[in-house]
Amino acid sequence: MELSVNVDHIATLREARKEEIPDPIYAAVEAELGGADGITVHLRGDRRHIKERDLQLINKVIKTDLTLEMAATQEMASIAVRVKPDYVTLVSESPGEVTTQGGMNLLNIKEDLKLFISNLRENGIIVGIFVDPDIEQVKEAARIGAQYIEINTNEYSKLKRKQIRNEIIKIARAAKAARREGLDIHAGHALNYQNVNSLLTVSEITNFSIGFAIIARAVFVGLRQATNEMVQVIKGVR
Ligand code: PXP
Repeated sequence: MELSVNVDHIATLREARKEEIPDPIYAAVEAELGGADGITVHLRGDRRHIKERDLQLINKVIKTDLTLEMAATQEMASIAVRVKPDYVTLVSESPGEVTTQGGMNLLNIKEDLKLFISNLRENGIIVGIFVDPDIEQVKEAARIGAQYIEINTNEYSKLKRKQIRNEIIKIARAAKAARREGLDIHAGHALNYQNVNSLLTVSEITNFSIGFAIIARAVFVGLRQATNEMVQVIKGVR
């Protein structure tokens, strides 16, 4: 089980004052020292937090894997091909959203997404798609050439403990379908130190992408420790 720490919100804090601190590059290193298996950044079209400079430097500095979350636009494809992160997770982006609103809807996509993915793959990038836990979406992701899915856990995260059973079943079914299609399975969005626990029962999930909860905890204990606490949770040490 791996943890990729999303450092976008270090950049959000920097942008609140348009200063040079706190620096997401430093954050990426601290997260690695805390035991992260990878670092994730979302380069948004509006550049509201992460900038190209961050992406390039993090890619040079870190020793673990870099995941770039991005919309499927030509601008982002050129950046990805230039920087060559280890992974690209395709997400949908709508203007003004506070955070990613949902998985990509692949059911009425055009064939050009298939070409878009094959171009990234030809450049040595492992490509995944952020999808809701829906078997049809999973099958479509496989059909158009994705190598992994990231299951959107946002709905799951909103539920109280007693209500999560059905959503976990849904996530587990989507994960099993993805495995049958030969895809790897990541999960993320709005996960925290408490709610990630029940997802550990879905054995097909190999990677959690977690940002906000870790950065929020880091305000009090530092990013290295906040990362390490999440590592302990997902690796089952406590
Ligand atoms: N996965 C995707 C596709 C996301 O867009 C985000 C938010 O940037 C995350 C995971 C991480 O979500 P959170 O910051 O709520 O942990």
